[in-house]
Amino acid sequence: MDSKKAQFLYLSQKEVIECGGLDMAMVLDKVEEVLSLRDKGETSMPDKISLKWKDCDINTRINAMPGYVGGNCNTGGIKWIGSKPENPSKHGLPRASALTILNDPETALPICILDGTLISAMRTGAVTGVGARYLARKDSSSVALIGAGTQNHTQLKAILTALPDIKDVRVCDLSSDRVEEFIRYEKCENTKLSFKGTTEARDAVEGADIIVSATTTVKPIVKSEWVKDGAYISNVGNYEYEYDVVRKSSKVLADNWQAVIHREHQTAARMVLNGEIQKQDLYGELGEVINGKKPGRENNSEIIFFSPIGMGIEDVMVAREIYDRSISKGIGTWLTLWDEPYWI
Ligand SMILES: NC(=O)c1ccc[n+]([C@@H]2O[C@H](COP(=O)([O-])OP(=O)(O)OC[C@H]3O[C@@H](n4cnc5c(N)ncnc54)[C@H](O)[C@@H]3O)[C@@H](O)[C@H]2O)c1
Repeated sequence: MDSKKAQFLYLSQKEVIECGGLDMAMVLDKVEEVLSLRDKGETSMPDKISLKWKDCDINTRINAMPGYVGGNCNTGGIKWIGSKPENPSKHGLPRASALTILNDPETALPICILDGTLISAMRTGAVTGVGARYLARKDSSSVALIGAGTQNHTQLKAILTALPDIKDVRVCDLSSDRVEEFIRYEKCENTKLSFKGTTEARDAVEGADIIVSATTTVKPIVKSEWVKDGAYISNVGNYEYEYDVVRKSSKVLADNWQAVIHREHQTAARMVLNGEIQKQDLYGELGEVINGKKPGRENNSEIIFFSPIGMGIEDVMVAREIYDRSISKGIGTWLTLWDEPYWI
């Protein structure tokens, strides 16, 4: 019998990257798999807990996001993710920073603690990217990104992985500096794409096949008359679309409607809570489309509105893959909780 020693593996962000943290094709597949597993009832996830304190705005918080993923993953865990919108300008730090803990369901002991910041951004992009596989026009060639922050880097990475024929990227932010910085970085990564920067959402959105908003706004930015037929829209941030954008859409989906409505901030959630749309008018969840229970895009003219809220099970799923790779590559630092437990 092995000792009663308890150890877990610690992985820094650099080590997460060495184990495939920036491999968007892998993350897309893992996120698609976990959305499918959830639809089949093989995951478990309580509501996200949001820790707030005095004078917090809606974007200042630390969220606890636990989840268990069954299937071959068979792992429980939690992402603990803080958010401070002024971090980039005030401290040169990302808005969001996360630690993820993975637990062995056999003993419930922690097996790995790793940077969750990068995985969180990658899996958030991947949810929109999996949506693009099923809900965007296959011939989509242009993308409007509203918000030139961390999330839209991975949103773009995921869309380009799902739809490699994208040619034209428009980037909008209130801050022209952030737009420039964003485009400078992405031009080096994607030399064949054409980029346009703007501080006017209309310039980015009009004529775009795909619209992704990942901002910290508390007021709607996108107007319905700018949205073209056939568009696929992903509302990653908060209240970013006027209600008519949702009313104009043929299909309105989420990754998890209960969580979207529980969090209250995204456009479709507000509409449900204000009685502007009824729950029965919501088309369904992406997992149902992945599992073939409902069709995704059915023609080139329908506008499809997607409201991804993000789930702890997505972080656990991707983190488990990174952990497995780290074990086979011998990467990471083992830390000891105890050599012998004090009490049993
Ligand atoms: N749905 C999910 O799964 C998920 C996951 C992670 C983050 N998010 C959300 O995504 C959003 C962006 O996160 P981030 O980490 O990229 O933040 P970030 O702070 O790095 O970037 C946000 C950008 O939005 C810009 N912005 C704010 N208001 C705007 C407006 N009216 N018009 C244009 N640009 C505006 C800001 O200037 C900033 O550059 C946040 O609201 C966050 O909560 C969602």
